[in-house]
Amino acid sequence: MASYISTFGPGPAIPAQDFIDQWVNASVAEGGEFYRTNCAQCHNFAGSGGALTDGKYAPGLMAASPLEIYEAMITGPQAMPKFSEATLTPEAKLAIIRYIEELKKQENPGGISLGRLGPVVEGLFLWTVGLGLLIGFAWWIGARVR
Ligand code: HEC
Repeated sequence: MASYISTFGPGPAIPAQDFIDQWVNASVAEGGEFYRTNCAQCHNFAGSGGALTDGKYAPGLMAASPLEIYEAMITGPQAMPKFSEATLTPEAKLAIIRYIEELKKQENPGGISLGRLGPVVEGLFLWTVGLGLLIGFAWWIGARVR
């Protein structure tokens, strides 16, 4: 099937699984940099996806396998740009895979996710709820004394 479709015209070759498997040796830090400059504007810094213009939507990346991530980068499905070797070397692509795999491991540790917007939002949430509780409690004490 795949070889039949490839007779339709030139397209990027499917990379060898052996090559893809080398993502485990790539650098997370480098991958993070490449990811933030090339992918985060559409897929969100936590890889959870996001809305694009014209009702398009960049999917979350947590379900994509390393091979799928690599193929997405070289084929550029729909609204996603193609990343040629000049933009991102194969090594840079592997580093991005490493980074996304690292994100997968850090998927929510539990609790309410709050959209994973980070400590500021979480702090604000606690602040609002906590202060609300204190005010409610003070009000309740006051109401009992009168
Ligand atoms: C301009 C926005 C944009 C940028 C930048 C972008 N993507 Fe995408 N990406 C998309 C869209 C839109 C889709 C969905 C395409 C479709 O529906 O077939 C997608 C799909 C994917 C998929 C397939 C997900 C799945 O499970 O189906 C992967 C993996 C992916 N992108 C990885 C990346 C990586 C890695 C980068 C950075 C090197 C990147 N993308 C940069 C918009 C973008």
